Amino acid sequence: MAQSIEKNRQKNVVTNAVPGFLPGDDAVVAFDNVSLGYGGSREAHLSDANYILKSLSFQLPAGSFHFLTGPSGAGKTSLLKMIYLAQPPSAGRISLFGETVNSSDRAQIARLRSKLGIVFQEFRLLEHLNVFDNAALPLFVHGQPFRQYRDDVSELLSWVGLKNQLQAMPHVLSGGEKQRLAIARAVVTRPTLILADEPTGNIDYAMGLRIMRLFVELNRLGATVLIATHDESLVRASGMPVLELKDGHIFRRDLNATVPS
Ligand SMILES: Nc1ncnc2c1ncn2[C@@H]1O[C@H](COP(=O)(O)OP(=O)(O)OP(=O)(O)O)[C@@H](O)[C@H]1O
Ligand SMILES: [Mg+2]
Repeated sequence: MAQSIEKNRQKNVVTNAVPGFLPGDDAVVAFDNVSLGYGGSREAHLSDANYILKSLSFQLPAGSFHFLTGPSGAGKTSLLKMIYLAQPPSAGRISLFGETVNSSDRAQIARLRSKLGIVFQEFRLLEHLNVFDNAALPLFVHGQPFRQYRDDVSELLSWVGLKNQLQAMPHVLSGGEKQRLAIARAVVTRPTLILADEPTGNIDYAMGLRIMRLFVELNRLGATVLIATHDESLVRASGMPVLELKDGHIFRRDLNATVPS
C-alpha cells in the first residue's frame, strides 16, 4: 500500500511534462531546476543531499490558484521566500512575470515585488500604526491620497471582521485578528500575485472559509494565488489544486470538491 502511494507520488512529481505545468508564456512564477540549501547561496560545497528543496521545476500560470502543503519544516516558507525574492536559490533559475530574476539587481526586485501581496507567517505588522493605517500602508506608500482609499480600506477591514477595531493598535489584537489584518494589508493593493503563508493558522474554521472566499474572489478578479497551509479541511473544502512538498520535491495533487460559497 505504502509502496503504491509512493509510486503514485513519484508519477505526480511536478515537472514541465505534467499537464497544467507545460511551459507557457503566461507563467507568473516559473522555477527551473531550483534548489535551496541554507549553507550560503550558490556555494559549491552544498550537495543535493544538503538541499532543503531539490531541483524544483514548476510554473504557476497567470490566474491560477494553488495550495502549497507539506509537513512542518518541508520548506513551504522557504519556497515562498524565493518567490518574493527574499531568498536567492542555491541553484537554478527563477522567473517572475516572465522576467528571469537577477538577485543582485535591487531595482528589478523592487519593481517585481510591487506586484506582490504577501501574508507573512509571523504577520509583520507595524506596532506603532493602528489597524486602519497598517492595512492602508501599501496605498499610502504608493502615494494614494487618503480620500481615495478611505472607503475601500474600511470595507476590506469589515470583510475580515475588524470594522470595530479600526483605531486599535496591533498589541491589543488577538492572534487571529492580527492575522486578518495582515491578510487585509496584503491584498489592499489588488496585487497580481498573492502569496499567503498559513493565513488561517490562527483563526476558526468559519472565519477561515470567509478568508478563503476573499482569496477565491481576488483570484476570480485575475490574481494568481499561492497559499501555504497545514489546514487540510480548508484545502478539501475549496477543491483547488495542491502542490505538496515532501523530501525536498514538489508533487501535484488535484482534489474534486466544491468551492465554498
Ligand atoms: N534562515 C534559515 N537558516 C537556516 N535554516 C533555515 C532557515 N530558514 C529555514 N530553515 C530550515 O529550513 C527548513 C524549512 O523551513 P521552512 O520554514 O521553509 O519550513 P515550513 O515548511 O515553512 O515549516 P512550517 O510548516 O513549520 O512553517 C527547516 O528545517 C528550517 O529549520
Ligand atoms: Mg512556514
